[in-house]
Amino acid sequence: MKRKIFTLALSFAALLGHAQAPKTPAMGWSSWNNYRIHINHEIICKQADAMVSSGMKAVGYQFVNIDDGYFGGRQADGTLYCDSTKFPHGMKAVADHVKKHGLKPGIYSEAGTNTCGSIWDKDKNGFGVGLWNHDKQDLDLFFNKWGYEFLKVDWCGGEKQKLDEATRYAEIIEQVRATKKGIVFNICRWRFPGTWALPIADSWRISGDIGPTFKSISHIIEKNAYLAAYAGPGHYNDMDMLQIGRGMTKAEDEAHFTMWCMMASPLMAGNDLAAMSEETRVILTNKEVIAINQDKAGIQAERVENANGVQLWVKPLGDRMSKSRAVAVLNTTDKSVTYSIDWEKVGLAGTVKTRDLWKHMNMKPSNGKLEVEVPSHGVVVLKAEGAKAITPVKYEAEYAFLNGYMVKGMATYKKNDNASGKMVATNIGGKASNWIEFPHVYVEKTGDYQFTLPIDNMDGVVVRVNGKLVRDISPLRTGKTMDITLKKGYNAIRINSSSNIPEIDYIEVK
Ligand code: GLA
Repeated sequence: MKRKIFTLALSFAALLGHAQAPKTPAMGWSSWNNYRIHINHEIICKQADAMVSSGMKAVGYQFVNIDDGYFGGRQADGTLYCDSTKFPHGMKAVADHVKKHGLKPGIYSEAGTNTCGSIWDKDKNGFGVGLWNHDKQDLDLFFNKWGYEFLKVDWCGGEKQKLDEATRYAEIIEQVRATKKGIVFNICRWRFPGTWALPIADSWRISGDIGPTFKSISHIIEKNAYLAAYAGPGHYNDMDMLQIGRGMTKAEDEAHFTMWCMMASPLMAGNDLAAMSEETRVILTNKEVIAINQDKAGIQAERVENANGVQLWVKPLGDRMSKSRAVAVLNTTDKSVTYSIDWEKVGLAGTVKTRDLWKHMNMKPSNGKLEVEVPSHGVVVLKAEGAKAITPVKYEAEYAFLNGYMVKGMATYKKNDNASGKMVATNIGGKASNWIEFPHVYVEKTGDYQFTLPIDNMDGVVVRVNGKLVRDISPLRTGKTMDITLKKGYNAIRINSSSNIPEIDYIEVK
């Protein structure tokens, strides 16, 4: 009896533990940026050692990921084997070494037959080693026999074979989940895959391969700028492995690291950890900036201003309506600038206490505005705490969730210089599944609010508030506003139409 109670208590605690631990973006190292396919046993083991000795493990880095280049071929029965010159002790030995340090080993594969390395890096061992026709066999090998805990699955072969990506990745991920619990899964198909990925993968690449230049960093930030609606605890937009310590200036490296943290991207260092400079180590282990990335609410920063390449980014911490926010000013121009942060744009009212997270210094509390100096290609990142968070009135469509996004012919985002954020959502409706949702419309009290939808043609428009259909939208047709009842806290407003809505710029709730 005693024992029964004990096991019961234990499993309950385990359950609670699981429920209480929201999944933050994965942190670790990956072999690709620095080594491409030229990896081996020593290189990987040394990275694991360095992850501990550099202090990276202590600040949260966990994964040591082997990317493309370890493949040897397949035996007659289909069993995958590694390149025995590069990995003479086999792949389990590397995983064991990583685990000895209390770290987690990760591995790489391909959804189709041939790897990316076979195409781009002339890897003669990259043919026929992808998962295609070998899902069960390879996944059992990776997780149960070799002991890997993270899997990135690439798409070069899948693309060549013209596979349907949603179907193929779902198939692989289902098999991954059936093979082993708790595997972290990364989709690598070089663009936001679509909303199908959200409930099944832990992260997905949103761009082509990163390079060690500020141009590449800026390009990826731009690609991710309007994908905030698709990130949340346990599922993140992957901005690719880090290029810190691989040739950019200190200001650029700091901007790169800051923006990956602000945008809740996985943080996979891509440099040689065993030979990094102190400057690189200090950047990679900045606990205060990492804390932004690892914030449990998992919110991706939104850009609230972009004035000639000087950009203001805001990431609420703990909760969307939190009075504690990470604020970054990114200067993409070639000159240093003095920038005045307007706290109202950040969403904070009253006296704002701030801390500079690169200087590790508290600043003088400010009211209304705060001036900062931002170096060229650099960033200033602050943790700001206002007296109060300002309840939003306007919700931009470029930060709303488009259910049909990335499906050909369905809803998408589009530049429009006349729009409030210079972006709109377009092509919504025409299909039941092609809706737009503003999932976090916040009000302080339950009651009636004036809802504005500034679109021209209301024919066939359907509005749902927290799942409930608003039966009569006739006031919207005439004046573009109507009363809706909202509950205290967050509300979801979903809009669809039997015909096509050409453009939505924003909605307003007063
Ligand atoms: C693709 C991926 C990279 C890397 C290489 C390996 O290019 O996007 O991250 O995995 O393949 O060949």
